[in-house]
Amino acid sequence: MLKRYLLAPGPTPVPSDVLLAMAAPIIHHRSPDFIPVIDSAKKGLQWLYQTKNDVLIICSTGTGGMVGTVNNFFNRDDKVLVINGGKFGERWTNICRAYGLNVEEIVVEWGYAVKPEVVEEKLKKDKDIKGVFVQATETSTGVYHDIKALASVVKKYSDTLFVVDAISALVAHDLRTDEWAIDVMIGGSQKGVMLPPGIAFVSVSDKAWARAETSKLPKFYFNFRKERANLAKNQTNFTSPVTLIIGLNESLRMLRAEGLENVFRRHATLANATRKAVQAIGLEIYPRESPSKSVTAIMSPPGIDGQTIYKNLREKYGITAAGGQDKAKGKIFRIAHLGYSDRFDIITAIAGIEMVLKGMGYPVKLGTGVAVAQELLMAEEEK
Ligand SMILES: Cc1ncc(COP(=O)(O)O)c(C=O)c1O
Repeated sequence: MLKRYLLAPGPTPVPSDVLLAMAAPIIHHRSPDFIPVIDSAKKGLQWLYQTKNDVLIICSTGTGGMVGTVNNFFNRDDKVLVINGGKFGERWTNICRAYGLNVEEIVVEWGYAVKPEVVEEKLKKDKDIKGVFVQATETSTGVYHDIKALASVVKKYSDTLFVVDAISALVAHDLRTDEWAIDVMIGGSQKGVMLPPGIAFVSVSDKAWARAETSKLPKFYFNFRKERANLAKNQTNFTSPVTLIIGLNESLRMLRAEGLENVFRRHATLANATRKAVQAIGLEIYPRESPSKSVTAIMSPPGIDGQTIYKNLREKYGITAAGGQDKAKGKIFRIAHLGYSDRFDIITAIAGIEMVLKGMGYPVKLGTGVAVAQELLMAEEEK
């Protein structure tokens, strides 16, 4: 028997209580039974997003939320600034270009975070920039871009929307939608909110709604103004992902019971323990600065292929982590501590890494990293 452990940056494990909630019989999405379900999800998402704005519930993966953002708030030929520091930054560029936007990129070396001053300089020079697009966590590199600092720059420009892909950061990072003035923020169900894949969340500020009135790009499935009107009636435009929304209420209940600050602290603790533990066995963290609290990207030791580490973790020990993407393929592997993740997930991951590396001939004293993680996690208990 090979017991499975899911430690990837999405999909993430779904708690039993959420799975059980989703086993309930399907109810009709236009029936009165569904009204309190969606009403509660709507309010719960506003709590999680720390916002009074609408948070749309879209039946798609996270990328659908990204696509809808581009075709609902922008126009062909709009000049936009994309922060491209990895695979998902590149995705913003690809989506914007697919809709005919005029993209200017700030290319950030993989493993680094964007400098807010660079964004400020661009916005100062070019008053035509209609939007700044960024990831909170760039999942491919494990870097967190400083959303608070970036928001404080963009909010000075009344004609520029600040758009954040928080698909892999939501729940792990404290992202204050209203306080910081984030205009559009996208989340995805299969990440921090501990659900199966299938819904995207999109928060929309008044500034962004005003822009939506002028957007002429074609819209059919992703029509956010229609979604907003439906949400006001506790409906979605098309058939609602009923089961996932029922599950969402359960996962939001769990997060509320833990408390937002504790949720963020848990993620910070797990991320810190992961980093220190792998460093204790001589491995390097891939991010040169600003490591994310959702996922840790770890460099494979010289001469050892990162994809093989990832493959051995899965095949020998049942641990599904993630490999590297694109130019980081073979150089790194990634361990997530996102959503339904606790101390023993980290200990399992570190123990697995040690065993895989030893099996591949890397000089590691078994238990070295595990002990460091245990010490740090226990120290946190005393606080
Ligand atoms: C930062 C980020 N953006 C976008 C996506 C794409 O989300 P989805 O696969 O749900 O479309 C992911 C998923 O890994 C992600 O981590």
